[in-house]
Amino acid sequence: EHMQSAMPARMAPNAPDAKHPMLHVLELPPFVDPLPVPSVPMGTPSPRKLRITMREIQSKIHRDVPPTRMWSYGPTPLGPVIEARSDHPVEITWVNHLPSKHFLPVDFSLHGSGRDLPEVRTVAHVHGAKVPTQYDGYPTDWFPSGQSKTCRYPLQQESATLWYHDHAMGLNRLNTYAGLTGLFLIRDQVEDALNLPSGPFEIPLILCDRNFTTDGQLFYATSGDPDHPWIPEFTADGILINSKLRPFFNVEPRLYRFRVLNTSNSRFFGLALDNHQPMIQIGSDQGLLATPVEQKFFALAPAERADLLIDFSHLAGQTIHLRTGAFDILQFRVANQTSSAPLHSIPKTLRTLHRTPESSATLTRTITLNEHQDRLQNPMVMLINNKHWHEPTTEFPKLNTTEIWEFINQTEDTHPMHIHLVRFQILDRRTFDQFELMTNKKLRFRGPVEAPAPNEMGWKDTIQCPAGQVTRVIIRFEGYPGKYLYHCHILEHEANDMMRPFEVIA
Ligand code: C2O
Ligand code: CU
Ligand code: CU
Repeated sequence: EHMQSAMPARMAPNAPDAKHPMLHVLELPPFVDPLPVPSVPMGTPSPRKLRITMREIQSKIHRDVPPTRMWSYGPTPLGPVIEARSDHPVEITWVNHLPSKHFLPVDFSLHGSGRDLPEVRTVAHVHGAKVPTQYDGYPTDWFPSGQSKTCRYPLQQESATLWYHDHAMGLNRLNTYAGLTGLFLIRDQVEDALNLPSGPFEIPLILCDRNFTTDGQLFYATSGDPDHPWIPEFTADGILINSKLRPFFNVEPRLYRFRVLNTSNSRFFGLALDNHQPMIQIGSDQGLLATPVEQKFFALAPAERADLLIDFSHLAGQTIHLRTGAFDILQFRVANQTSSAPLHSIPKTLRTLHRTPESSATLTRTITLNEHQDRLQNPMVMLINNKHWHEPTTEFPKLNTTEIWEFINQTEDTHPMHIHLVRFQILDRRTFDQFELMTNKKLRFRGPVEAPAPNEMGWKDTIQCPAGQVTRVIIRFEGYPGKYLYHCHILEHEANDMMRPFEVIA
């Protein structure tokens, strides 16, 4: 339904037409392609140096679909998985070897970016990494095709499922959609001691949605207005797992670990197994939970991660599916027997996790999430504190202090809010009186305080802020002073203009 309304009224340059209509992904035979498992680059030993080159490649999304032009951080559709250790710095040279023209409809009306900028610009951001500001991938730190940038990641942080993606001003939703994403795992001794499934039994699952034309090319919808092609959200029918449409994966009847990441522009996944067996979540965005959480269903917003264990040991010879909603997206074919590799078990506890006491916060910031009809400039804008990205910085947290941020969602969508540099904990959610807030500018709470779900009790860097609620998080600003940003991770919202700077003051 939403797709229909998002379709352009006028033909955009890449719009499906009579010669290249939309591919009906649901009509393709499911589970014909094996799940690809991304490679791990070695680099040089400590300090590890890696060179990651962005390039245009061809990708087979399905046996029966012609190759798709896309962009990647490597020679294959999945960017290399970077594996690192806590406190062992990694140096990455990001090389922009992309063509100089974008193949998706570029929107020059966003962020006041103007028409004078070169068409392809890029800057890599490691989402969830604690890094000095000059290496964080600030949106204006982009560089054009033919150039590169070397960044040093100190990684003074605990084991976690991080990822990297493009963050170039006004373009990152298209660069990410074109394929510029990858997984970045940090490991530490706490994780080692748990003896979790590893090697062939630890598998990344990178999920995203894409639309294609019948000739297999990526399609990104625009509004149909050539001056303001921006659309408020983009969701598509084609769900890719590790770059394939509805792949299958051969597993042994044993315990597996899956590192699940949602790289979609706007889509939330509601994940479950079709045999209703619980999945055991052991970690979230910023690493391990305190104890494993069993759940039959969970929602994963754009940019959120889940570290999952799935036990296939009682399913020898059977076939089960991972699904989102009622749609099966991945088929597990369980073998009759296990290989001789040692078996793993589910740990009882994972790590000590101290809840940050509310009393340690020295400041509370009120952050409103707003939606505006702005007829002079754009048909619609999504804002934070009613401010645009380019307006002067208003938030200046002090280094080594703790703050509470209250995200007051006055819109009708759930926004996955992400804060760079830091990890945080969610305190609670409450419903507020919208009318009271608009008329008296006072926050009146209605109804009971909602405690975070058990799988939200660990460290987070992206938090779902539901409509009509105040979502409170507690943050210690540690690491480095300097300019960072926070934004909604629905990339269409972020682009217009749900993104704001903040500056950590030494
Ligand atoms: Cu996933 Cu500003 O980042
Ligand atoms: Cu980030
Ligand atoms: Cu949003």
